[in-house]
Amino acid sequence: MSFLDTHTFLSSAQIFLSPDYLIRAAAHPWELEGARELRHQVFVEEQGIFDRHDRDGVDDVAMPLVAISTFAAEADQVVGTVRIHEYSPRSWRGSRLAVAPSHRRQSRLGSELIQLAVCTAHGRGCDRFLAHIQMQNVALFERLHWRVLREVEIHGVPHMEMQADLAAYPPIPDPFAGWKTLAPRQAAV
Ligand SMILES: CC(C)(COP(=O)(O)OP(=O)(O)OC[C@H]1O[C@@H](n2cnc3c(N)ncnc32)[C@H](O)[C@@H]1OP(=O)(O)O)[C@@H](O)C(=O)NCCC(=O)NCCS
Repeated sequence: MSFLDTHTFLSSAQIFLSPDYLIRAAAHPWELEGARELRHQVFVEEQGIFDRHDRDGVDDVAMPLVAISTFAAEADQVVGTVRIHEYSPRSWRGSRLAVAPSHRRQSRLGSELIQLAVCTAHGRGCDRFLAHIQMQNVALFERLHWRVLREVEIHGVPHMEMQADLAAYPPIPDPFAGWKTLAPRQAAV
């Protein structure tokens, strides 16, 4: 195989292996199950915040959002998730934001899920969007136009309650359509 052939082969492989991600509201049972499994991996197994499971009553009313990796242009695996719910009229919360360790700090999936979360709520009449943010993530949220309200302890872990600046999050009408985001390695091919 010549250098050119090898390069062409590697480029094709990279295109195949470095897919787009779909950012959207979870619609199919496998997406809901993928979000459930990812939350278990992150909040029970990795962070140890919960003993056996991280489900609670909010799951009965929340809308789950997901980041889905693709393989050969088809939806493949849930690699990120967050949930949103309206806890009182026009006031919303986001919670259980999680990205699979293998997909963190590379494609801004956490940031994109935050964007979908707040824009979706805004599109449904939200005028106040809050979340409890773990301390190591406060700087990330500040860069995304959130401000700190107060420090609180949740499940024995210190958090900051933060509020999103809705002006930075234009309403979107259909979170199930969502959008596609490009993996950075693919952009370099
Ligand atoms: C918090 C969490 C969801 C963030 O997900 P993520 O996909 O890594 O988020 P992003 O990629 O949007 O941003 C994370 C960082 O990577 C950086 N980053 C993202 N893409 C990048 C790229 N292509 N090149 C360089 N840096 C990049 C971001 O600038 C950000 O920097 P920071 O750590 O200095 O703030 C993820 O770390 C996670 O699941 N953690 C465990 C669970 C958790 O803490 N949940 C949140 C509870 S509040």
